[in-house]
This record gives sequence, structure tokens and C-alpha cells, in this order.
Amino acid sequence: MRQTAFYQMAAMVGLSFAAMSCTGGGGEGPIVPPPPAPAEYADKHMPAGWWADESKVEEGRKLFIGETNPDVNCASCHGKDGKPVKAGARDFRVGERMKLYSDSVWFWRISEGVPNTKMKAWKTKLSEEDRWKLVAFERNFSLSGKGWDPAKNAWVAAAEVGAAPAAGAAPEAPAGGDSATAPAAEPAAAPAAPAAEGK
Ligand code: HEC
Repeated sequence: MRQTAFYQMAAMVGLSFAAMSCTGGGGEGPIVPPPPAPAEYADKHMPAGWWADESKVEEGRKLFIGETNPDVNCASCHGKDGKPVKAGARDFRVGERMKLYSDSVWFWRISEGVPNTKMKAWKTKLSEEDRWKLVAFERNFSLSGKGWDPAKNAWVAAAEVGAAPAAGAAPEAPAGGDSATAPAAEPAAAPAAPAAEGK
């Protein structure tokens, strides 16, 4: 029995080494979905209309490069043009990864940082509005023209976010039963969480 326990432990140690060598300690390991945003952030979303508002994006750009406030210079690690200049900094140009981030997750990470990395919490230095401007700007490195639609749980064309009376927006949506009289324009089923995509 003792031996079994020993082998189990050895196997676990081996696994964690394998996991470490996969991520290599850098920020750009294999593409996996980010953890879900904690409860206090899960319901926070981009203010209405901002995805398509170039002035917000421009304010986000000035924040990002440290023009608005030299104490806040995201570009000093993430790079002015999105090409990271500090090892391990997230590369926002990698759309395959970034499309797995909801706006809430993005906002949460900027607010609270990523533990045990160089990415610190910015909520004391940046208002909520400023953090949203940064999300609006950063998403342009790979998700240009898109916005996160909380109702669809997906990135869609920026102008479509909240514009159409989509699921969630219309309180008088037929609640089933009379579906025969109201041909559904769109599938009503909730889309799968992006996490399902995996690697
Ligand atoms: C000192 C360097 C540094 C600065 C400055 C910095 N970051 Fe980061 N950032 C990082 C690193 C390193 C990571 C990768 C963390 C990890 O491994 O998940 C990261 C990750 C991120 C992520 C993704 C988090 C995730 O879960 O993948 C976002 C979003 C982000 N940064 C936004 C910003 C914004 C906005 C600013 C400016 C307000 C900023 N960063 C400033 C180093 C930095």
C-alpha cells in the first residue's frame, strides 16, 4: 500500500513537471480558455455603444501607451503595436486566444491583475471607464470591428452588440407554447460557452 501511494505521488510530480514545461513560464503557452470571471465581475460589460465608438478606442490608445498617465503604460510590456516587449506579456494579436476572453474576463484581469505574474491590478489607478476604454482598444489587435455580446456569449460585429432586439433584450419574447404562430428568426438555444472550444 505504501508503495502505491509512492507511485501515485511520483506520477503527480511527473505530471506537474510536464504541465510546467508545456507553459514554459511565458505568457504564451498553449491556447486554453481563461478562468471564468469571479462573481463581482461576471455581470460587468462594455458600456452600451462603446465597441463602435472610435473616440473611446482612441482614449484607450492614449491610456495604453502612457500618454494620458505615464504611471499607466501598458505598452511598456505589451508593446505599442501589440507585439509584447516584455517576456510573458499577453499578445493581444493572437485572436485564437483572445476570442476566448469575454469582455468581463478582460475587464477583470485589468482590474485585478494576474497573480504571480508581472501583470498587476490596475483598479486603483484607473476608473472603470478607463478600464473599459482599454478593453475597447486592446481588442482591436485581433478582434477589430467586433464586440462581446453577453446575450449571445460571443464576439459579434460591434454594431450588432445590443442593437438588435436579441435574446435577453426583449422581455415580451414568446416563452414557448405558441411557437407555431411565431416562427423564430434565430435559434433560441443558448450558445455554448466559449470554454467548450478548448485548445
Ligand atoms: C510590467 C509589465 C506589464 C504591464 C505594464 C501591463 N501588463 Fe498586462 N500582462 C503582463 C503579463 C506578463 C501578462 C501575462 C499574465 C499571465 O501569464 O497570464 C499580462 C496579461 C494581460 C492581460 C491578459 C490576462 C490573461 O488572463 O491572460 C490583459 C487583458 C492585460 N495584461 C492588460 C493590460 C493592460 C490594460 C495594461 C495597462 C493598464 C497592462 N496589461 C499592463 C504584463 C504587463
